[in-house]
Formats: sequence, structure tokens, C-alpha cells
Amino acid sequence: EWTPKNMVDELVARVREEVGEDRAICALSGGVDSMVAAALVQKAIGDQLTCVFVDHGLLRAGEAEQVRTDFVELTGADLVVIDASERYLDALAGVSDPEQKRKIIGREFIRIFEQAARDIVHDRGDNEHPVKWLVQGTLYPDVVESGGGAGAANIKSHHNVGGLPDDIQFKLVEPLRTLFKDEVRQVGLELGLPEKIVYRQPFPGPGLGIRIVGEVTADRLETLRKADLIAREELTAAELDRDIWQCPVVLLADVRSVGVQGDGRTYGHPIVLRPVSSEDAMTADWTRLPYDVLARISSRITNEVEEVNRVVLDVTSKPPGTIEWE
Ligand code: XMP
Repeated sequence: EWTPKNMVDELVARVREEVGEDRAICALSGGVDSMVAAALVQKAIGDQLTCVFVDHGLLRAGEAEQVRTDFVELTGADLVVIDASERYLDALAGVSDPEQKRKIIGREFIRIFEQAARDIVHDRGDNEHPVKWLVQGTLYPDVVESGGGAGAANIKSHHNVGGLPDDIQFKLVEPLRTLFKDEVRQVGLELGLPEKIVYRQPFPGPGLGIRIVGEVTADRLETLRKADLIAREELTAAELDRDIWQCPVVLLADVRSVGVQGDGRTYGHPIVLRPVSSEDAMTADWTRLPYDVLARISSRITNEVEEVNRVVLDVTSKPPGTIEWE
């Protein structure tokens, strides 16, 4: 009989058997799959697992804290947090090209994770219990999509594994590789993860770095974080979270327009709202959000976020538009 409890018991038993007395590491991204995979492996092997969270400083308001504190509190996981936000800002300085940004963000992640992995292998492992395993949140559709080979995770994960130096070759443990997304959510809830994490909408690995059109700076990130939080608050208050696939909020940092506020002329930046409806992100339609919700988001953003004097709605489907702007 398929129940979340049976499923968790079976997966936990499988991980225990596979990993044995060895140690494992896991990279947390803040996404659903890596969190559920980590929580499951943690339940199976306890503190034989070390989680690594590379905070690239490109997450939305509250998300890094959610990983740092909520996840650890809930699971008791051994977590290594690497605050790399300064390093990312340096690496991204002067870069506006979307592909360049993506490459830099991916490259830095691999470098930082490699170093963390080396340190953990050194600090946590011993001859009898080496750090041998890398946990991946690979799902069944990922396995099928890439031909069913072992370790068929997303591109980023491939890099993690393939990019590691010879002295730390990991075997992959992929506890979710037989599951679909909705089953992963069930397993997550059964493991005690909050709905906020389990039903989180998709969010790109490069984070807010690809939602600032133009150079990424600390100030611009701050501006975008404020606007994004307002949009999320209002969508949640209107109980629309489950109706939309996701709603990227984008800062057009290289564009200015004239406005008026109080007695004064303003010359600020536009924020774009990009609410989409989709089944699988391959195609998408722009979501017809209620006008009153859009009005509340717009007036709050222009009132509360100083640098922003205009809010615009993206009414492009995919194709031809992609969901993200970069
Ligand atoms: P696009 O913009 O290609 O996005 O229509 C499709 C879906 O993928 C997400 N996305 C990413 N997810 N790493 C990720 O993990 C990435 O680099 C990335 N780029 C886009 C996007 O949010 C949407 O759900």
C-alpha cells in the first residue's frame, strides 16, 4: 500500500543499507528536492551526513535564514554554511550579459563546493568511516530525461560531481530517483518539513542574479528583495500561490523612467511582474491575476521601495518569452 509513511520507511531503509557506516555530504540549494533528499538521508544516517549551504547572496528575503535555521532546527542536520555573498558580488562586478552571469554563478558554486567538500572529507572522515557519498535530489523525470543513466541529475549537479578533483570521488546516493514531484512533496510533509518549503514554487539556481537586468550590485539586490517580498506577501494574502506556477519579479536596473511623487519629480527604475501559469515550465501562459491584487502590489512597491517608481506587467506567453528574463 502506498502511503507517505511506508514510502519514507522504505526509502530510509534503502539509504541505510546503501550507505552503511560511511559518511555523506549534500549541497542544499534551498529548493524542494535537495531539502527533501537531505532530510530523508538525515533520518536514515543521522550525523553521518553533513549538509553544505553555499549562500551566494542571491536568494530572496528570508530564504537563507530558512535554510540556516529552520531546516537545521527541524532535521537536526549537521550544516556547514558558507557565506559567499561578497565573493559573488566581486565575481559579478561589471557583468551585465545574462550568459556571463550564469557562467560566473555556476563556476563560483563549483569552486566553493569543491573546497567545502575537501574540508569535510578532511575534518569529518576517518579511515574507517570515509566521506564517500554525495546526496543528490534527482527525481524520476530527471532520470528518464537523461536516458536513465546513474547520476542523471540536473546540469548543475553533474558539474558538482564531474568537477570534483580525483582525490575526492563520490558515489551518488539519490533517494528520490523513483519519485515524481508530488510524491516528493508528500515525503517532505511526512518528514515534517513545513508547507512553505514543500510547496515552494520553482526558483532558479542563479537566483536574483538573473532577475536584475544589468549589473548585479548589493544595492540593486536590496531593492529587488524588497519588491519581491511585497509581491509574494500580496499573492499569498490573496491565496493565489497554488494557482500560479511562479511569479518572477524583475528589476530593470539599466532602465529609468520619469515619475512624480509628492511634489517632486522622480527618475527611478521599473519593476516587472511576471506571473505565469504552467504545467512543466516548458510552455507557459501569463496569469490573469485579479486587477485589485495587481493594484495592491503596484501601489505598495512604488510607495515602499524608494528606487522604484513604476510597476509593469509582463503579458507574454512562453514561447516566445521565457519565464525568466535572463
Ligand atoms: P525559462 O526562463 O527557461 O525557465 O522559461 C524555465 C524554468 O526553469 C527555471 N530556471 C532555472 N532553474 N537553474 C534552475 O534551477 C537555472 O539556471 C534556471 N533558469 C531558469 C525558471 O525559474 C522556470 O521555472
